[in-house]
Amino acid sequence: MALITKAPRGTQDFVPAESAKMRYIEDTLMHIGELHGFGEIRTPTFEHTELFVRSVGDTTDVVQKEMYTFEDKKGRSITLKPEGTAGAVRAALERGLLAEALPVKLSYITPCFRYEKAQAGRYREFHQFGVELFGAKSSAADAEVIGLADLALRTLGVESIKLFINSIGCPNCRPKFQQALKDYFGAHYDELCPTCQERLERNPLRILDCKEERCHELAEHAPIVLDYLCDECRDHFEELKKRLEAMGIAYEVDPTIVRGLDYYTKTVFEFKTETIGAQGTVCGGGRYDGLIELMGGQSQPAVGFGMGLERIKLVMEACGAPLPEEPRCDVCLVPLGTEASVRCSVLAESLREAGFVAETDLMERSLKAQLKYANKIGARYTMVIGDSELAAGAARLKNMDTGEEQEVPFAELEEALLRREADRLYDEIVDAQLDGE
Ligand code: HAM
Repeated sequence: MALITKAPRGTQDFVPAESAKMRYIEDTLMHIGELHGFGEIRTPTFEHTELFVRSVGDTTDVVQKEMYTFEDKKGRSITLKPEGTAGAVRAALERGLLAEALPVKLSYITPCFRYEKAQAGRYREFHQFGVELFGAKSSAADAEVIGLADLALRTLGVESIKLFINSIGCPNCRPKFQQALKDYFGAHYDELCPTCQERLERNPLRILDCKEERCHELAEHAPIVLDYLCDECRDHFEELKKRLEAMGIAYEVDPTIVRGLDYYTKTVFEFKTETIGAQGTVCGGGRYDGLIELMGGQSQPAVGFGMGLERIKLVMEACGAPLPEEPRCDVCLVPLGTEASVRCSVLAESLREAGFVAETDLMERSLKAQLKYANKIGARYTMVIGDSELAAGAARLKNMDTGEEQEVPFAELEEALLRREADRLYDEIVDAQLDGE
């Protein structure tokens, strides 16, 4: 029984009050994307497993331990997407977007699935806002994408978040660094976890973000990638730093950031906070100049990031950033009797058409119970309509905040509500101004 009354571990429901907050966060983020010229792409929730094995990398934790993979009825291996980049690149190639004017700028909001140890801020189903910019190799593109994330976080009123950047080099300089890692970790081979012992030969970089405690400790003293960058990667990184400084975006260089996915080259970055516990990375991204070619396209540079929406919501709650409530009911029509109920339904419908949140009784409740319900849903106004009101074609509109009542003909209800709403907004603005003085 428990199985059908409890959501699977690491998943969560968003009831209306929570969904209103998530929707506000999503709308704000997509809007900031639009301001930077990013258009929305929607890709399937599942893809061929091979797509993620090839792009994310077969020695990553995501592919080795965390994917939700299954066979469909024809025996094809299918995986629920663990991240958004691979699908966006696949779609851009399949739909020929890269043949159009460059750069191509795509944004998305998508559910992601990873079989991770569930804890606060870490879920098995979570949601990402992501952007992907294809075709630009300049540090200006890295700076624009980082600037987008920075503006998004500021617009949402998120505080105590720091940006950390690093460069992890390119296929020219990476082999020397990998050799240095092999030498270092090779000397500690017996202390590595079995997965990292396997990774040592094929992809020693992955040992740097292993979550096992001993591997993590060893990684802290490992060679540093910045010491191995080629001139081109070093110049790119220096240019990016200058651009961020010119844009007034504070950052710290953190040479331990290598990211958990294989496709990155050159710039990598993370926005982190300490306000929501151990899972404090709210945004991670970087450049991935080799991925499009690896997936069968013509070589094109690319840069992007993914932002965890649940984590953004947690930080916003932790720092008291403004988050919307569910929309409040403007007017609750309270009928007494069947004829009045029909009239109230018709009136409510025309108010809704005019853009008001209007409700009326659907439960055949008593007057007292209806007024109690109107209070519970936070209705700004109520209007009780019985036989005499029907006969008069008018009823008393009651302001539930002030208790004030006024007789309003049904035909003038919309106008009366509009006038009162305008007055209310005016008062709110004046109050806010007085508060600010
Ligand atoms: P990622 O760092 O794996 O990168 O994920 C991006 C963000 O998703 C993280 O910073 C975090 O906020 C959120 N996140 C990841 N795992 C979880 C989880 N289990 N529960 C809750 N939130 C989570 C990527 O996925 C890349 N595709 C980002 C990217 C786009 N790089 C270039 N373009």
